Amino acid sequence: MKAVEVKKGIYWVGAVDWSLRSFHGYTTKRGSTYNAYLIIDEKITLVDTVKAPFAAEMISRIKSVIDPSKIDYIVSNHVEMDHSGAIKDVLALAPNAKVVTSAPQGVKGLTAHYGEMDFMPVKSGDTLSLGSRTLSFVPTPMLHWPDNMVTYCPEEKILFSNDAFGQHYASGGRFDDEEPLGDVLHEARTYYANIVMPYSTQAAGAVKAAEGLDIELIAPSHGVMWRSHIAEIIEEYKKWSSLKMNKEAVVVYDSMWHSTEKMAKTIVEAFASKGYNAKLCDLKAWDNSEVINEILTAEYIAVGSPTLNNQMLPTVASFLTYLKGLAPKNSGKKAFAFGSYGWGGQSIGLVEKELTDCGFEIALEKQRIQYIPSQESLDELENKVLEII
Ligand code: FEO
Repeated sequence: MKAVEVKKGIYWVGAVDWSLRSFHGYTTKRGSTYNAYLIIDEKITLVDTVKAPFAAEMISRIKSVIDPSKIDYIVSNHVEMDHSGAIKDVLALAPNAKVVTSAPQGVKGLTAHYGEMDFMPVKSGDTLSLGSRTLSFVPTPMLHWPDNMVTYCPEEKILFSNDAFGQHYASGGRFDDEEPLGDVLHEARTYYANIVMPYSTQAAGAVKAAEGLDIELIAPSHGVMWRSHIAEIIEEYKKWSSLKMNKEAVVVYDSMWHSTEKMAKTIVEAFASKGYNAKLCDLKAWDNSEVINEILTAEYIAVGSPTLNNQMLPTVASFLTYLKGLAPKNSGKKAFAFGSYGWGGQSIGLVEKELTDCGFEIALEKQRIQYIPSQESLDELENKVLEII
């Protein structure tokens, strides 16, 4: 496998994971890439590695440029194993390489995963001369692990941004202008919603820092590199990290015998009639990850479940558990619960409690309809929804 030169003397030496379909709960329909970058200078440097099963692919790409034993530095921007998983394989070939990582969290995390290494811990503003180029390190803690940092090369105007600006997107093209921009931006948004959203405050800080840099290439650790649409992706990150809401409503539900579905359809039409971009997400058909993408910029979220054995349906419980982990604090989003029931009807209260725990404002008291909704009861539901909009 060959390296791809991205700037003179700087190579992409990562791996393409065409088959990845799940990333701990995040459905990755388009696969992913694990990007590593090789800088040829007086000091030869590898920026990040790849997931362990892809070590051979990365090493073969490195070997297409140099003998891996010549590597002097391995910069580890992030401990998570999709980027550090092949670090031991590289060290086996380059035993004298120093591992450059954030102090203290990068050192702590890498040691916990792989044992002792020859670390060069770096802090905010530290620089490392490679010869004709310099690397400057910017910690981005909790974006999305405590160890995260990004690395900037001022001479080349490259930001090695690790998870930030990434996409789970496997492709033949390595750059944003070699793939359909709409697809790449959609995957960047899905990535933001499913990975970065709870850390939006930190993301806003990182975007501000990036805006102060002269950047010709953003080289993330997943998906394509940004060279032609840098302003667009930074603008999108600014919007997403500000948690700005659009006039959008997302109605999420599962149904047993179509009664909760009738309520869901009534609610979505109420929002649409008031000019909202309203989406109806049946959890039998929608992945949690795509619903989360819709929720990123939505003002209203309505979640419905019938009652099954005193509980909400497992699909709804799974969705709400996933949402609770990702819901950003103080988002200002408004929510309510609904559902049909036979006798107990506990599920609707349970859904409402989860929505409260997500930090959403409960905009409408839980809406319950017994057995099959009559037209009158649906009209009443519609009116109640219209009153809160
Ligand atoms: Fe792509 Fe947080 O790892």
